[in-house]
Amino acid sequence: MPTWFKEECLGSTNIFLREKIRAGEVSTAVVWAREQTDGRGRLGRSWLSPKGGLFLSLSFKVTEVSNASFFSAVVGIVTAELLREKYGVNVSLKWPNDLVVVDERGEERKLGGILAEYIADAPRGPHVLVGLGMNVNVSVSLTEGDASLTPTALCEHREGSVDLDLLVTLLAERVLEGWALLADGNRSTSSWLLRWKELSCTLGRRVQIQMHKNNLTGVARDLSPDLALLLEDDYGHIHEVHTGDCVHLRGVQTDS
Ligand code: BTN
Repeated sequence: MPTWFKEECLGSTNIFLREKIRAGEVSTAVVWAREQTDGRGRLGRSWLSPKGGLFLSLSFKVTEVSNASFFSAVVGIVTAELLREKYGVNVSLKWPNDLVVVDERGEERKLGGILAEYIADAPRGPHVLVGLGMNVNVSVSLTEGDASLTPTALCEHREGSVDLDLLVTLLAERVLEGWALLADGNRSTSSWLLRWKELSCTLGRRVQIQMHKNNLTGVARDLSPDLALLLEDDYGHIHEVHTGDCVHLRGVQTDS
């Protein structure tokens, strides 16, 4: 049974949960806060987190050095599938970790993002910790410093406000179920890979990967078995990209 924390306000649900895992206090756990004062995004950015958004972190004990990116892929997949099925919002996955919705003008906009951590040195053994942040009943600029997509919120794509308690419960159930299957090997990583590809709005697109020192431009052809982006540059060379900001370039949609 997971340990649940439902909090009015935390600095960051990821940091809160990381500290509990490092202290050996919890293992499989779910932390939900209605508001964060020090939310963290990818690449050291801050994540603006006012009331009305969804701020959720989940952790899971893993038996060996695991690829944390698969655990975060499961969060993206089940979130997109749930929002499509139960909330009627056509959410797609943008590599590596963004939830995206296309607005009425055909513009891709960022609904949420995922931040995964691997904690190797916990007293109860190694854990993965994945945080999900999403604009639900409030629309704000999500990350400071990431200009690649303008933000949107779930409430802009459906009638009425969303019951956050229900959404969090459904999401946590599905994520933990997916993680248990992943850990048991009952559902092989290749089937999650396939689901990710079906929900992707990155594959087949001309993209620019902005990395620490340089940028790489080309067509996002595929994902490697460990979720790296396989990018074909203008000379036909394939690059395996593991991290960076991915910008979808306008106007060019190619066949994959
Ligand atoms: C991104 O940069 O796109 C990922 C953002 C992840 C934000 C979530 S909100 C819940 C959890 N707590 C944090 O401090 N960050 C993650």
